[in-house]
Amino acid sequence: MSFPISRPRRLRRNELLRNLVRERRINTAGFIYPMFVCPGCNVRQEVGSMPDVYQQSPDQIVEECRQIQDAGISGVILFGLPEHKDPRGAVSLEAQGVVQRAIEGIKNARLELLVVTDVCLCEYTDHGHCGVIKDGEVLNDETLEILGDQALSHARAGADMVAPSDMMDGRVGAIRKKLDQHHLENVPIMAYSAKYCSAFYGPFREAAQSAPQFGDRRSYQMDPANADEALREVGLDLEEGADIVMVKPALPYLDIIHRVRESFDVPVAAYNVSGEYSMVKAAARNGWIDEKRVVLEILVGIQRAGAEIVITYHAKDAVRWLKS
Ligand code: PBG
Repeated sequence: MSFPISRPRRLRRNELLRNLVRERRINTAGFIYPMFVCPGCNVRQEVGSMPDVYQQSPDQIVEECRQIQDAGISGVILFGLPEHKDPRGAVSLEAQGVVQRAIEGIKNARLELLVVTDVCLCEYTDHGHCGVIKDGEVLNDETLEILGDQALSHARAGADMVAPSDMMDGRVGAIRKKLDQHHLENVPIMAYSAKYCSAFYGPFREAAQSAPQFGDRRSYQMDPANADEALREVGLDLEEGADIVMVKPALPYLDIIHRVRESFDVPVAAYNVSGEYSMVKAAARNGWIDEKRVVLEILVGIQRAGAEIVITYHAKDAVRWLKS
């Protein structure tokens, strides 16, 4: 049937009708809010390229987590800015490291909040790469042991879930094995499975002080032009024991999110990354876009594509806007 019998505009005439036929609503239960933990006490320093995002000491993290819990956000993902860096990221394994202390603080405060940790070397290595280096190369297998130990350290401190973001081959299996050996078989792994080598991580690298000091991440993160390969990566991570798979960034990769959703029967997450956030903030501050409408459109788009779980710096604003 076609026009004039069929008139799709009939169901768009007013908000009651639009509400009645709306296919999906933003699911705030899927939000995870990223946070940057730095050393010290009482530190709260805004990230220049990410308005309203802060580097914070563990005590401040706990305070903000209280508000995040009260806002009804499900969880946070923690990134560490250590006191010092070395070639192997050894400081990331310390029981008194910044992330470990933040986890303990949140757990001691008995907050109803999932604490996820980013597992990677780049925030802790002096060269800024996600693995150990030899002769200018990022070594794969030598990195796995450290990643396993880092995940173990986070889980021991009380992390509810670990999220490896390094893109080394075999890391999910290595982490699963390490956790299981230490009776942490109930700690799930959210794998950054299809993580692309993206310029959208720029502001994050300022926030986490994790820019590579030479070269780039093309030898381990995925080529933005590849889609079939993402499905292979996801398949491998699932075989190795991933519980949740992630696509990152989100907006230029909605097709990947959709294909992963259609191809696998597991929870899918998407990371709405720093550059995606900063562009919205910058345009909004210039008065060029309506921030609230743009953010809600982005978030419903990511979930509509197939990622129920969205890691986003917009989480706090979005839940506030959706309530009012
Ligand atoms: C660490 C890591 C990165 C991000 C999350 N974990 C940066 C990178 O790979 O360079 C990016 C997050 C963001 O841009 O918001 N490997």
